[in-house]
Order: sequence, then C-alpha cells, then structure tokens
Amino acid sequence: MSEHATIPEADPQGFSRDEYEFLKGLVGGMRCGVLTVNRTGRLMLINEPAVQILEIPAPSGSGLPIAAALGRHPQLARLLLDSFQMSSLPNRAEIDLEFGAGRRKTVGLTLSMVPDQVGEIRGAAVFFKDLTYVEHKEEKERLKDRLAALGQMAANLAHEIRNPLASIEVTCTLLKRRLTERPADVDLLEKIVAEVRRLNRTITSSLEFARPLELNLSSQNLHAVLDEAVTVALGRRGKLGISVETSCHSMLPPFLMDREQLRHVFENLFLNALEAMGDEGRLTIDVSSATAPVSAMTPYEPNGPGTTDPWSSFEEFAVVQVSDTGPGISAENMEKMFYPFFTTKKHGSGVGLSMARKVVDRHRGLMDVESEPGKGAVFTVRLPMVVNNPEG
Ligand SMILES: Nc1ncnc2c1ncn2[C@@H]1O[C@H](COP(=O)(O)OP(=O)(O)O)[C@@H](O)[C@H]1O
Ligand SMILES: [Mg+2]
Repeated sequence: MSEHATIPEADPQGFSRDEYEFLKGLVGGMRCGVLTVNRTGRLMLINEPAVQILEIPAPSGSGLPIAAALGRHPQLARLLLDSFQMSSLPNRAEIDLEFGAGRRKTVGLTLSMVPDQVGEIRGAAVFFKDLTYVEHKEEKERLKDRLAALGQMAANLAHEIRNPLASIEVTCTLLKRRLTERPADVDLLEKIVAEVRRLNRTITSSLEFARPLELNLSSQNLHAVLDEAVTVALGRRGKLGISVETSCHSMLPPFLMDREQLRHVFENLFLNALEAMGDEGRLTIDVSSATAPVSAMTPYEPNGPGTTDPWSSFEEFAVVQVSDTGPGISAENMEKMFYPFFTTKKHGSGVGLSMARKVVDRHRGLMDVESEPGKGAVFTVRLPMVVNNPEG
C-alpha cells in the first residue's frame, strides 16, 4: 500500500478488518488512477497512480472539497460533480489536462457511481489512465506507415528515373566519339556524364532504402567488424588532428549478424563523427556487454509457438558506443536525423542514419543517440548476442 494514496480509515461498513485491508490494497495497487467523491463533493479516496498522473500534492486525508484537492484540474472536478446529475454516464471519455507551460496529458477515463447496500448513490468514482504515451506510440506507427509509403514511392520513382538516365549516358558516349576533334565539347559532355552518374548514385541509394532488408546471418566477430569499419572511415575522412580511441570492456564472443550490413552501420556512424569534427577531435569507440532485459529472455515466436527465430532468446546485448567531440546535435534534429534523406550537409545524402537504424532494428537491436550541443554526440548501438547458430 503506497504511503501517498489516501484511502479512508473510517467506517469499514461491516467489513472485517482483513476484508477492509484487502479492498484498500486492491484500490491502492491498481495500475490506473482511481478517485472517488461523495455526494457532497468531498474527496473520499485517491490512489497513488491518480496522484502521479494528475501531478497534485498527495491530499493529507479524505474530506477535502474535490475542487480544492484537484487544484489545477477543475474540469475533472466538474466532471465528477456533474456525474451525479447525469442519467447515463459516459463509459469512455477523454479529457486533456493542462500542466502549465503548454504541457498537456491526454487522460482516458470511465465514470461510475458508488451505491450503498440499499442502492442509494453514495459517491462517484473515476478510473483513468494517461494516454499521452499511447498516443505518441500511435503517432510513431503512423509515421512508420507514411515512411513505408514514401519508400515505395521512391522505389517507383527511382525505376522511372534510372532508365532515361542510362540512355542519356549512352547518348553522351556516342556523341563523344563523334566529337573527338573538338576537345572543349568533349569536356562539356563529360560534365553531363558526371552529373548523370551522380544522380544515378542518389537514386540508387534511395532505392536501397526502400527495399525490404534481408539479413544474411552468420556467426561473426564484432571486434573485427568494428576494426574494418574504422579503417574504411579513416581512409575516407581521417585527418591528422583526429585521434581514435578504442576501449574494450569485454571481448565479445562471435554472434549472429549480417557482417556486411553491420560494417556499413558502423562505417556510417564513424564517418558522421569524423565529418562532424572536421579537422580535429577524438573519436571514441567503446565496446561492452550488458544483461538483456527479462523480456528478451522469453521466447519471441512471431509465427506461433515452436517456430524457429534466431532471436528467440538471448541473455546479453553487445553495446557499442561511438562518441565524438564535434558540435553535437540540436534538440530539433535529434529525431529528424533518423528520417531518410534528412541531412544538414551540403553534399550529404541523409540516408546513412536511417539505413543504419533500419539494419539495427532488423537485428532486433536498438540505436540511441545522446548529445549535449557543443559537447559532441554519443551514438549507442545495442545488439542481441545470439551465440548459437539457428541451424545448429
Ligand atoms: N556525430 C554527429 N554529430 C552531429 N550531427 C550528426 C552526427 N551524425 C549525424 N548527424 C546529423 O544527422 C544528419 C543525418 O546523418 P546521415 O543520415 O548519416 O546523413 P548525411 O551524413 O548524409 O548527412 C547529418 O546531416 C547531421 O546533421
Ligand atoms: Mg552520414
């Protein structure tokens, strides 16, 4: 029984002490907010989730007028008081609660009457839940759908654009042969060809993004993958003033992954870090492992019990943290960064992070970012370490 909730001590109404304590525990332990008022509009009972959702100080006892107890939520107090006049109560309603500074919560509630032994209404009760988080999740799902549709559109467009591009390139090559005597014109044609190729690359990478991702799984050593990725990234963007520091808290056993795709993920993270830092800074790569949450240890059987899934259970995550000393990321760009084609770079494609997240998602991993603007960025990739082979 939580210490903050207010459950009346008085008048156990013919219950035994045990029964009364049981009911008190029941209401106190409920995961939804519970709030009751009596016919005179005074607070009878409020449990801890209610206090938390409403963000009100825990009332010191029952008997407070409800409007005073609920302070900044007069509409909820009104609703409870009005419910005595309603002939039929809404069995599901939503209200928006305000918390100042523009912060709001959407609360889903049901109302009911509390009758006494002879059926007289003694009070009204509201049961409620904070739906804000649920709404965010729905918003995310909708965004995913929109992105999927966008991806499909990109794939179609890419197809439509690549064919004419190919014929422009062929035509330019033919023309070049005819113009061997006029080097200045050949130069112009070469410029066209270079631009056509660039467009083709852009289109190809968007097509890549739209294609559903297939993993080619085998047991691989993540340390080796990281080494390769660092070498590639430094080869492309390394500068004299950049140092690389690797710290390895545990040697990870080989585990199931798509080696090529994960190498790309880390190449992209390293390249982004190097690009963010410019001429000098420090790239830190920190490898460790962490115990998986309990949920990861219960078999995940998307196609019904007994179906094999390589990630059906694992006990540890491989954790790779990539930190840089660049300018960091503004709050505004924090989530946008992972949208396909979002870039703040002059010649950026904006596919690196969105692809990386897609690959990590597909491995049932997690990719997060933290940043304090001015102090660099930290990308954390967690990958389930599935050590056994699905075939084995
Ligand atoms: N380490 C980093 N520090 C600061 N900003 C970053 C970092 N990594 C990514 N970003 C931001 O995220 C954007 C998207 O990155 P990405 O998807 O790799 O595309 P691109 O590198 O082509 O711009 C970048 O343009 C940049 O604004
Ligand atoms: Mg990038």
